[in-house]
Amino acid sequence: MNSDYTQIIENAYKFVKPIKDHGKLATYIPELANVNPDKFGVHITKIDGNNFGIGDHLEKFSIQSIAKVLSLSLAVKFLGERIWTRIDVEPSGTKFDSLLLLETYKGIPRNPFINSGAIVICDILITHLENAREEFLEFVRDLSDIPDLNYSDDIADSEKATGYRNVALCNFIKSLGNIKNDPAEVLDFYFDMCSLEMNCEQVSRSFSFLANGGRKLSDGKRIITSSQAKRINALMLTCGFYDESGEFAFKVGLPGKSGVGGGIVALYPNNFTIAVWSPKLNSNGNSFKGMKLLETVTTHSEMSIF
Ligand code: DON
Repeated sequence: MNSDYTQIIENAYKFVKPIKDHGKLATYIPELANVNPDKFGVHITKIDGNNFGIGDHLEKFSIQSIAKVLSLSLAVKFLGERIWTRIDVEPSGTKFDSLLLLETYKGIPRNPFINSGAIVICDILITHLENAREEFLEFVRDLSDIPDLNYSDDIADSEKATGYRNVALCNFIKSLGNIKNDPAEVLDFYFDMCSLEMNCEQVSRSFSFLANGGRKLSDGKRIITSSQAKRINALMLTCGFYDESGEFAFKVGLPGKSGVGGGIVALYPNNFTIAVWSPKLNSNGNSFKGMKLLETVTTHSEMSIF
């Protein structure tokens, strides 16, 4: 990256901040509607160890679907290629909570980043780990170097009380034979996983193993193989933004993942990881300003994988 990367990010931040935000807060999880909609932060972690953040980058937000990359990483770490008999690796071209293609594909979700795919990953982790809820939390604590990181009961309870679509998805997949455990147990773990709260700096640091060939940046520990990291990055590029994945690749040109809490993480292998947070979402469920900020950064820095 251009050596004046701090300037590029600062300029992009100042450029995007005053733009009229056409997005809306996610309200289908009631707790997410309590967030200040004007929050805006960004943090970059370079693999040479340099860091830079601006705005509300040290304030925690609900990472939601961003956690799906971490649960996939844990499943890949323990089970390797075996998981791909249960989930496909194709973009869905549908909304993140769509039931549509499950019927067509006999209960095999199109990819691990739509809700149905992430629910199947939770089922796989429950089957193969002693205590999936605790082991996933330990995994993220290790990646983030935050020993006291925890699930948010407020957010998980809020989603548990209203997550009828996810209940429908899980039961539908169960009826098609691709959920092996009790759907209620699978959903509890899924809602907890989505409830993690982190700030931009922590998200950016936690994801840096994917920009670093599968090794943690802070201590060099191998998390997954470089080939597994390549595949997860490929999935983020093709499926990280639901039916807006093509647009993100087109405009930003990096693998990334969004969440309905308004966070987006993106990375350039062997270079950097960047996390941005702005809670108002566009009509596809992706942060309106987050998308604009990342597009501005990669356009001005000329750092994209293409
Ligand atoms: O299951 C849900 O609907 C949320 N817990 C996660 C959705 C999400 O973040 C999708 N993101 N764009």
